[in-house]
Amino acid sequence: MKGILLAGGSGTRLHPMTLAASKQLLPVYDKPMVYYPLSTLMLAGITEIMVISTPDDLPQFKRLLGDGSKFGIRFAYAVQPKPDGIAQAFLIARDWLAGDACALALGDNLIHADHLSTLMRTAASRPVGASVFAYRVRDPERYGVVAFDESGKAVEIVEKPAAPTSNWAVTGLYFYDKHVNDIAPQIRPSPRGELEITDLNHVYLEMGTLHVEKLSRGCAWLDAGTPDSLLQAATFVQTIQSRTGMLVGSPEEVAFRMGYIDADALRAHARGLGKTDLGRALLELAEGELL
Ligand code: TTP
Repeated sequence: MKGILLAGGSGTRLHPMTLAASKQLLPVYDKPMVYYPLSTLMLAGITEIMVISTPDDLPQFKRLLGDGSKFGIRFAYAVQPKPDGIAQAFLIARDWLAGDACALALGDNLIHADHLSTLMRTAASRPVGASVFAYRVRDPERYGVVAFDESGKAVEIVEKPAAPTSNWAVTGLYFYDKHVNDIAPQIRPSPRGELEITDLNHVYLEMGTLHVEKLSRGCAWLDAGTPDSLLQAATFVQTIQSRTGMLVGSPEEVAFRMGYIDADALRAHARGLGKTDLGRALLELAEGELL
């Protein structure tokens, strides 16, 4: 399975911060925002990732991430000329995907959960269908919303409904079987002119192959798309890291724990980060002190 990290869009809700800088490169506490969804994809066992961003911003992502060898993985890059919708990612990546199954992570979403790697491995190993994760929120009208019947089966999925029928929002992490390569080109622009990821998920729902995993109350899902949520995400990461000493959203750590890089490579990363707390934590991990 391959992965797409979608990091384009216009970021209008973060103006003026995003007038001259990519939203997904803004800091979330001690790391660029894109590190968080990148770490998530890597934790799912995905080692071939296409980064998609705007024509202006893509060079900065290349500068930050390189070819992926420093994380023991491989990056490909592609431009989305205009923010024509999240589902357009599959059209942009079509040749690179070459008919493979694919996971998609939004570049401004942070998911933190104990059992996330198990959930993702289950999703990635399903030979048929799509898997998405739902999270209970107070403001479902901002998101794609999924409703369930009494047996817990997903029966409806609607993008930004004016009158939501549930509080379950679909998070920005999706797993699709290889049929996504045939289904995505059939999606037509919505009234707001976007190729909606919710429409793609709706096709899977109609086929009876959309798996919706409810994230439990112990999980955190944050999208850092507004000044408030950006600050909340930063505070969340700072709190967890300083309280537990464990890192959140470090691709270097995930690369090491997943066996993509060895302790020497991790030490080199740590040294590159100088005297930062992050560098110190990575060094402790390489020395086996942070297990
Ligand atoms: P949004 O937050 O819905 O949109 P946005 O990033 O353009 O921000 P705003 O609403 O403030 O203008 O997008 C969710 C994520 O998907 C975000 O990481 C950007 C990404 N995205 C793209 O890369 N291309 C697109 O065409 C769209 C719609 C979103």
